[in-house]
Amino acid sequence: MVSPEVRDAINQQIKHEFYAAYLYLGMMTYFESKSLSGFGHWMRLQAQEEVAHAMRLVDFLIDRGGDVELGPIDAPQLDFETPLEVMKAALGHEQKVTASINDLYALAVEQNDYPAQVLMQWFVSEQVEEEKNAGEIVDQLELAGGSASALLVIDGRLADRVPEDEEEGSA
Ligand code: FEO
Repeated sequence: MVSPEVRDAINQQIKHEFYAAYLYLGMMTYFESKSLSGFGHWMRLQAQEEVAHAMRLVDFLIDRGGDVELGPIDAPQLDFETPLEVMKAALGHEQKVTASINDLYALAVEQNDYPAQVLMQWFVSEQVEEEKNAGEIVDQLELAGGSASALLVIDGRLADRVPEDEEEGSA
């Protein structure tokens, strides 16, 4: 049985993950409105990954006999000035999620909740990937400066992203 403290923190994290999905859907609509369909595709997959993260937490609470609470999700930002602004916001959001995952892991340690620690180890590794992926795109957009042709090269590369469960080497 999961403790009330861990249960409440996981319920909060479920909200963060669904909010992230919502945020990335909003970013997808921005990119699609600019005909940057590679960026749009990347954001669409990112939103789907966030739903999968939330479901991992939902399933954990179901398996451990903890009540799932589904609180309200805030509306995300929809207006942005540039692709760089969008990707910086995405990276900033991932950094916030990392901090909240780290807090949850610390709580699981404090509570001697070993199953929650194992679950959080998965999320800790995932956050390294999440920050790296968003950070690389920020770096590339900064390198591109205002060049439209460089932007289109990045857009073409992002169009090749495949869902996580279809990545090479994934189980
Ligand atoms: Fe679920 Fe992007 O962290």
